[in-house]
Amino acid sequence: MENINWKEFGFGYTKTDYNVRCHFRDGKWGKLEVSSSDHVDVHIAASGLHYGQQAFEGLKAFKGPDGKVRVFRMEENAKRMLSSSQGIMMAELPIELFCEAVTKAIQLNARWIPPYESGASMYIRPVLFGNGPQVGVAPAKEYTFIVFVMPVGPYFKEGFKPTDYVIYREYDRAAPQGTGTIKVGGNYAASLRGGHRAHEEKYSAVLFLDSKEKKYIDECGPANFFAIKGNSYVTPKSNSILPSITNKSLRQIAEDMGLKVEQRPILVEELSEFDEAGACGTAAVISPIRKVVDADNNIEYFYGEEAGEVSLKLYETLRGIQYGTVEDKHGWNTVIELD
Ligand SMILES: Cc1ncc(COP(=O)(O)O)c(C=O)c1O
Repeated sequence: MENINWKEFGFGYTKTDYNVRCHFRDGKWGKLEVSSSDHVDVHIAASGLHYGQQAFEGLKAFKGPDGKVRVFRMEENAKRMLSSSQGIMMAELPIELFCEAVTKAIQLNARWIPPYESGASMYIRPVLFGNGPQVGVAPAKEYTFIVFVMPVGPYFKEGFKPTDYVIYREYDRAAPQGTGTIKVGGNYAASLRGGHRAHEEKYSAVLFLDSKEKKYIDECGPANFFAIKGNSYVTPKSNSILPSITNKSLRQIAEDMGLKVEQRPILVEELSEFDEAGACGTAAVISPIRKVVDADNNIEYFYGEEAGEVSLKLYETLRGIQYGTVEDKHGWNTVIELD
């Protein structure tokens, strides 16, 4: 495509040609609309502004060496947005409408999908929020759903390098029976102070513990935690973490590779027993962990300067499926038709 330097993209915002929108009014969703503006009309008394009635998603589309464009597990993101909308009483967004809007946003911005060789991809950001006037604390009657897309660079510019994570017990991301399992903005706002301090202290992110007892591992900032222990893939079971679609996929791949998959509460002390550890999510697939520092107790759990062999295999398999170079035997990709 014409003069785009694909190497220049990180994870910052890039304006592309179009975004897709849909409004819920009078008890029903309207038709998809296409806009070339990157601003939106928001009511001054919108519940999305005042009461946090807001949820978002993040998924990616990839151009393979065969020239085909594949979007990864779009229905899973649609289901998660539906559960987010139910969790904070927003208008339910039908799965088909989500998929139609995502497909359309990719198609309309086809020239922004990075070529395979660049190692970059297209990031897709759906967002849903209460946009009707709602001054008393109650669910709004009107909602806006928007999907925008942008090219994002390869996450690992210098290769698949492990980084450091930190435990601070003074910050909670989500309450035990709260909104941790859904993708609402408030969880991210709550994580900002801890995340900021972690960055200042040169860590990649906070490894959050469960908010109630501070005994178990929850998740890694905006990613799930997993570890390899002998022949097992181990990942937390918790009622305050986001059900990561990447983690769900890695569990399946691990099982296909003959590993035992354990999804269970993980005590902090168990960090000393793992052979490999990593953070997983859409942004990086896997971000290997070099060490976890328990800052409150001055303990370090070290996993290695280089990524472990199992993490690397999991990473390469999942990336290969996304780019169409490894067989998609579970039918995770949707090929997007472009004309
Ligand atoms: C809090 C949190 N946990 C985990 C994840 C990883 O989820 P996924 O693999 O669906 O991107 C994300 C990113 O979406 C996140 O924000």
